[in-house]
Amino acid sequence: MPRPLEELIRCLPRHLRSAEAARRAIERGLHDPSAFRAALLDVPAGERDGWADLVLGLDDLPLDGPSLPAGGVPYLPCSVEVLLRVIDEAPVRASDVFVDIGAGPGRAMTLVHLLTGAGAVGVEIQPELVHAAADLTARLGLPRVRCIEGDAATLAADMVVGSVFFLYCPFSGARLEKVLDDLEPVARTSPLRLCCVDLPLPPRPWLTSVAGGGAGLEIHRAAPAGGARLDK
Ligand SMILES: C[S@@+](CC[C@H](N)C(=O)[O-])C[C@H]1O[C@@H](n2cnc3c(N)ncnc32)[C@H](O)[C@@H]1O
Repeated sequence: MPRPLEELIRCLPRHLRSAEAARRAIERGLHDPSAFRAALLDVPAGERDGWADLVLGLDDLPLDGPSLPAGGVPYLPCSVEVLLRVIDEAPVRASDVFVDIGAGPGRAMTLVHLLTGAGAVGVEIQPELVHAAADLTARLGLPRVRCIEGDAATLAADMVVGSVFFLYCPFSGARLEKVLDDLEPVARTSPLRLCCVDLPLPPRPWLTSVAGGGAGLEIHRAAPAGGARLDK
């Protein structure tokens, strides 16, 4: 049920202050993932995306450019609510490396890093968005979050450090098939989770669907060639 306007107006200064405090803590190297999560959860669900953008200082984003190939989905940020589901249901822990396939300006991977302590790597094809991600991580001083420029269909095979792969509908078709085929050898060396939003995956014998977190989220685990499921 929508909150009354008066209540929203009453809460706003507190949320502005908590966003400012969270940003200062990150910039000063005093960030604590559990305190950050508590501050985020203190904000009403419908206002968490705005709060996150305030913390990250994301306002003026470059528009999608000609470097987006045909069939590539333009930048659209994943909602904070879905990212929280990914973190809880994948799950994503501090020991993980979160890989965002089609990372945009680095918003999702930075939030997952801040909420969990996991290292984060993004792959993004649009150079303007890669520059925006580099600005973001430099501004906040986050050495364990990095965005690489390139086509995910040629870079996925190199993502051997990744343990949780996140795909918010960056593309489908042959590119998606290629990414999956390139991740199979990675999955043979270590257990993986694939978290897909609004993206039905073509079936692969090494992938088992383990959870549908709602809101378009599907989580898959990589199973070894024999078919037994890997628990991570
Ligand atoms: C729907 S947005 C998701 C952004 C981000 N993952 C998030 O959840 O906030 C899809 C992103 O995929 C990028 N993209 C599209 N095709 C790509 C490709 N072949 N390789 C890498 N990135 C790609 C787009 O530029 C866009 O930023």
